[in-house]
Amino acid sequence: MEMIDIALPKGRLGEKVYSMFEKAGFECPSIKEENRKLIFENEKLGVRYFWVKPSDVSIYVERGAADIGVAGKDILLEYEPDVYELLDLDIGKCRMAVAAKKGFYDNTHTTLRVATKFSKIAERFYAEKCRDIDIIHLNGSIELAPILNLSDVIVDIVETGKTLYENDLEVVETIVPISARLISNKASFQFKNDIIEKIKKALSEQVRNNND
Ligand code: PRP
Repeated sequence: MEMIDIALPKGRLGEKVYSMFEKAGFECPSIKEENRKLIFENEKLGVRYFWVKPSDVSIYVERGAADIGVAGKDILLEYEPDVYELLDLDIGKCRMAVAAKKGFYDNTHTTLRVATKFSKIAERFYAEKCRDIDIIHLNGSIELAPILNLSDVIVDIVETGKTLYENDLEVVETIVPISARLISNKASFQFKNDIIEKIKKALSEQVRNNND
């Protein structure tokens, strides 16, 4: 039987995502075993799951190493992978925002220094406003940048707002709401259409029920 390969984002979100697939009828009990394996298979159902670093899911799917996967809208906006976005799973909800030290005033006569992991999103956002910026690309702990005067603002993900609050920063502006999306490799979507549509349908029913 042909397998469907599914890339799950490793971590807390991935566990939620897996339980949605499980509920949808695509369970794979071995995934719950306490070990460090990255691949799990349910031969009977013809499904195989991979635990992938969340920001890498779209790479696996774009190149066909996985047929489908779940990626954050932040990653899709930043990397613009050539995949189909099939469904908003309505989990992993947060927002992409501009934040700065409390009381920050934007002097539009100077170049704005923007620290971020999401350079493309930041560039597009400020290009639309015709605001001159200097991107400082960082890989984590972005909140440090304005505190140490490495940047004026940051563009980052805000979920509860706790990280900003505890570092005396605040949201200046929301750029876009973010949530987890079901994505598909384009060729797989043609060749494994029946099973992918079946998964999409079962997941979208859960999304609908959760919203009722
Ligand atoms: C994200 C983001 C913020 C934090 C926001 O970091 O970069 O630091 O979560 O969440 P909060 O509003 O609930 O405090 P993540 O944990 O993904 O790690 P990283 O950015 O350091 O990789």
